[in-house]
Amino acid sequence: MEIKVVQNSKDVQADILVVSMFEGGQTTSELANKYALGEDNFKGKFSETYLLQTYGKEPYKKVMVLGLGKKEEFCPNKLREAVAKAIKKAMQMEAKTVSFSLDEIDFDYSEQFAMGALIADYKFDKYKSEKKDNKVKEVYVQANEDIIRKAEKIAAAMTFTRNIANEPAQFATPTELAAIACDLGLETKVYDREECEKMGMGAFLAVGRGSAEEPKFIHMKYYVDNPKKRIAIIGKGICFDSGGLDLKPASSMLTMKDDMSGAAAVLGIMSVIREFHPQVEVHGIIAACENMPGQYAYKPGDILTAKNGKTIEVDNTDAEGRLTLADALCYACELGVDEVIDMATLTGACMVALGTQAAGIMGNDDELVKNLISTAERNGERYWELPMWDEYFDSLKSDIADMKNTGSRWGGASTAGVFLKKFVKDVKWAHIDIAGTAFLEKPQKELIAGASGAGVRTLLNYILEQ
Ligand code: BES
Ligand code: MN
Ligand code: ZN
Repeated sequence: MEIKVVQNSKDVQADILVVSMFEGGQTTSELANKYALGEDNFKGKFSETYLLQTYGKEPYKKVMVLGLGKKEEFCPNKLREAVAKAIKKAMQMEAKTVSFSLDEIDFDYSEQFAMGALIADYKFDKYKSEKKDNKVKEVYVQANEDIIRKAEKIAAAMTFTRNIANEPAQFATPTELAAIACDLGLETKVYDREECEKMGMGAFLAVGRGSAEEPKFIHMKYYVDNPKKRIAIIGKGICFDSGGLDLKPASSMLTMKDDMSGAAAVLGIMSVIREFHPQVEVHGIIAACENMPGQYAYKPGDILTAKNGKTIEVDNTDAEGRLTLADALCYACELGVDEVIDMATLTGACMVALGTQAAGIMGNDDELVKNLISTAERNGERYWELPMWDEYFDSLKSDIADMKNTGSRWGGASTAGVFLKKFVKDVKWAHIDIAGTAFLEKPQKELIAGASGAGVRTLLNYILEQ
């Protein structure tokens, strides 16, 4: 899809002209006012649409009235969702060109307008032998050109991420993630098993041992002169989570190719970072491996030593993400960065608590957590702070090691948080649990089912706002 900025969107010869309408209000199209409101009693409820033919009387073939809902509830987030709805509708009708005339929408809305159109434009059909070409090719709008171009880059990053996370585990292996990282044109170092051993990453390597796939520790670097800040972003990179010897039941295993969604988000962000040339140094870090129950698999009761020397008794091999993140966090802290942010499909408990509408967030710095929550809110994601009180560590106490990797079933997202905290040193840190938001079973707002690109829009905007 290409978004073209025009002076007057009503002059464009398009398949569809979209005009908007608040509940109980009017549109800017006389035709629409006459037929939609007058004859058919269209109310303009949020994201409802109404279509009418122009029979050659206008430059556009059809008019789509897009309901924006109650005026007092309207905001950029609502616009994004509604625009996505209009694009989906246009796709159903196989319209190729759509012009938007949204007069009540000012400058501040340009970014979310574009995000809505571009996110709706996504599909994952590479494994369909018959592909339907029902994409909208051109969108016309009166908007701010620079903001539209910014949104295009963020949306491209999301698409990049969604493609990787939707890819089956047979293809999206640790080796493949490393190859993708190396292709981004950034300075990138990939550590193999032996090098990770030398670095003392006993927790990460234990998780990968049960798989025939080689583990890869990936470090991408974006440098600028005199950075205002130095940030490391870490993505959980479990390319498939079978649970290991504590094998998952079939129904829980079904979507576990998505357990590298955090890693996919880091790759998406790093794939566009240079185009924005932010004055921030950014490190993208992924500890990639599979959690499988092969003959060399790590076992319940094993004691692992992480990079910082702490020992961990394996209580459950299905709590593997925190083990890989433990070593990744130690590595990131040693870089001497100002902030570390990790994104991980970490706990079913987080999904139980917040559903698919919000990711859980925790951290050791209030300002960082608050900033991320508000950046998410402005950009179409929701982050909700969960507690990370020291008491949650009680259930992780081990008789024979420094800690266990799991404890009580209750408050599982917070327990995972306090576990991770043991591997964070002298740095501001936030942990984002995207277990519920990274991979959708059903369409939700502007997103179709499957990988959602969770974390990408928020973290990119966060980096750009520094
Ligand atoms: N990858 C899962 C968490 C997950 C669950 C992500 C559902 C997305 C959807 C993680 O590795 C896991 O298995 N967590 C366990 C932890 C438990 C053993 C303490 C869980 O949540 O059940
Ligand atoms: Mn697991
Ligand atoms: Zn997992």
